[in-house]
Amino acid sequence: MITKQKLEIKNYKKIAVTPRFCYFQPKAELKSTIAQEISYSLSQKNKFIHPKFFYDEAGSDLFEKICSLPEYYLTRTEIEILSSIKSELSKYLVGDYALVELGSGSSIKTRKLLKVLTTKQNDVEYYPIDISNILKDSSINLHDEYDNLKITGIIDQYETGLEFIRQLDHKEKLVAFLGSSLGNFDPENGIEFLKKIRFSMRKGDLFLLGIDLVKDAKILENAYDDSSGVTAEFNLNLLSRINRELDATFDHDKFEHVAIFNKRQKRIEMYLKSKVKHQVFVSAINLLLKFKKGELIHTEYSYKYTIPQIKKMAQKTGFKPVQIWKDKKNYFAVVLFSVYGI
Ligand code: AVJ
Repeated sequence: MITKQKLEIKNYKKIAVTPRFCYFQPKAELKSTIAQEISYSLSQKNKFIHPKFFYDEAGSDLFEKICSLPEYYLTRTEIEILSSIKSELSKYLVGDYALVELGSGSSIKTRKLLKVLTTKQNDVEYYPIDISNILKDSSINLHDEYDNLKITGIIDQYETGLEFIRQLDHKEKLVAFLGSSLGNFDPENGIEFLKKIRFSMRKGDLFLLGIDLVKDAKILENAYDDSSGVTAEFNLNLLSRINRELDATFDHDKFEHVAIFNKRQKRIEMYLKSKVKHQVFVSAINLLLKFKKGELIHTEYSYKYTIPQIKKMAQKTGFKPVQIWKDKKNYFAVVLFSVYGI
């Protein structure tokens, strides 16, 4: 039975799709955010575009494609680790756990976790938090796969999603932050963000982090500049999105995708590089942009970690590593943390 009722809860609109699936969406239009943020970030001396803007519909589709590229070992390796630790993980989940997932995306990895929970528990509550509308489709798929699953989605930024989660008053939580998305934060902000996660949790809750590890620069650079050009397209889609949503005149052919590994900072840096001196007009915000030949728009950092660094970060944020799993090549780590009690 499909019922569609709308409820107003604070700043969110609640859309009930079925008795077991509803989602919340912020009432404020995302468009105004994009206009405001872009007009600021492209007016700076060093132009940049926040990576959260990658994930419109086209961008989310492209990201899904990236995940199955031969060069992009991250998703494959993480799924491999998750598959191999199911029974070990299960031992830690004593009681009744709800699953909270930050950046759920297409939910392939979620299935590994849900498999563990839905076989142990009568009912499982699942709270995916994702900025992309893809959340709706992937949730419906999961909903149809598991009869004992109740899904409450939050289509929003992580931070506001976490605020939402903090207000939930119920059983224990397993909070999952997979896909090395923590890598998008610089280390300082990463720590602040982990603290926010920590404060959305209670004693007895568990936190599962999937994080990419430092490795050979060539392997990293190939993962972010694949031979079929999908990552380039993903990066350039930012310009198409600004054209579509803010009525701008960006020309793909005048830009080039750049991905380099900065060894000192242990991060992949992604840019869009202007191939020629030219101008772009962004109508919606009445902004004329001047590009020099070779000028860079910074679009993403993807930090890579070492195990000692992960442990140090945990210490600073009130998390305690319970177990660390890696793949055979030591490319990727999945870490389970408990929280220090208050
Ligand atoms: C989703 C942020 C984890 O950094 O590997 C993939 C995004 N960018 N290819 C990453 C991304 C280019 C991805 N994260």
